[in-house]
Amino acid sequence: MEDNNIVEFICKIPKAELHLHIEGTFEPELMFKIAERNHIKLKYQSVDELKAAYNFNNLQEFLDIYYIGSRVLKTEQDFYDLTMAYLTKASGQHIMHTEIFFDPQTHLENGVPFPVFFNGIYNAIMAAEKVLGIRVELIMCFLRHLDEASAFDTLEQSLPFKDKIIGIGLDSSEKGNPPEKFRRVFEKAVQYGFMPVAHAGEEGPVDYIHEALELLKIKRIDHGNRSKDDAHLLSKIALHKIPLTLCPLSNLKLQVVKDLKEHPLKHFLDNDIVATVNSDDPAYFGGYLNENIIAVQQALNLQKDDIIRLAKNSFEASFISAEQKKHYLGLVDAFVSEFKSH
Ligand code: ADE
Ligand code: ZN
Repeated sequence: MEDNNIVEFICKIPKAELHLHIEGTFEPELMFKIAERNHIKLKYQSVDELKAAYNFNNLQEFLDIYYIGSRVLKTEQDFYDLTMAYLTKASGQHIMHTEIFFDPQTHLENGVPFPVFFNGIYNAIMAAEKVLGIRVELIMCFLRHLDEASAFDTLEQSLPFKDKIIGIGLDSSEKGNPPEKFRRVFEKAVQYGFMPVAHAGEEGPVDYIHEALELLKIKRIDHGNRSKDDAHLLSKIALHKIPLTLCPLSNLKLQVVKDLKEHPLKHFLDNDIVATVNSDDPAYFGGYLNENIIAVQQALNLQKDDIIRLAKNSFEASFISAEQKKHYLGLVDAFVSEFKSH
């Protein structure tokens, strides 16, 4: 397939996104607009100056800026606008289904009550499902740099909205904050019916992936890059079909990989892992989902069959029902046959 053709194929194939932080979709232009209407003065004078600060040596340097950005979000309307902007973009990229992370503790610490941010996000989802036809689920993440008591408190505050949240996740500073710290919170959340996932093996050691699987009983590994170095773990992940939600441009920007040519995605696909590609925090890392897939396609010389596999994996790895999976996998097959003949 020629270069132009494969880019068009990537852009139009039906797909799902499973690793996306809503706070990480906060584009500088929208940040300035919302800051102005909330009478908040940003440290940066212009969109360009802000964008120039998006130069990170590691995860923590990114998180420091990302949490500052989120302080601008105050009202239900702010969360609505943020979520609607992402869903509009996602729908334009032929994303049919997305499972979105949100960070309650960030907003609670900023003085925004749970119902304010939650209703803003949720009302945007309801509107987007109706108008754009995209399907959305929500995953509430605990910040791992905070303590267990704060996570338990957040879990309690989420209970009135429990039926509108499919899962729980674990994000923020990985090194020094092992999954073990949240074993009891995850146990409780699972009793409430939340699906457990966690960031593991992004920057942290491979042991954290083992811990997240064994102690937190996660159903999906967010990132999981470090499992590449553990053949035994890889065969276990393949055997149990535990998906990985990989984020190539994020890995490049946070220097988890030095070059996309070294990205483990292809290694995972070759080892029968249900690997998926995602954008993580697209406003900060220079690309939404299609840009991520295009970047790895070019760096790793992925072929059309690899792209089809990634699209199918994205639905297989999602938390939708078996019946819905069948429907979306059918859409992928229909797209592939249709594309051949055009
Ligand atoms: N929060 C937002 N993006 C994150 C990432 N890539 N790793 C950990 N926490 C995050
Ligand atoms: Zn993430």
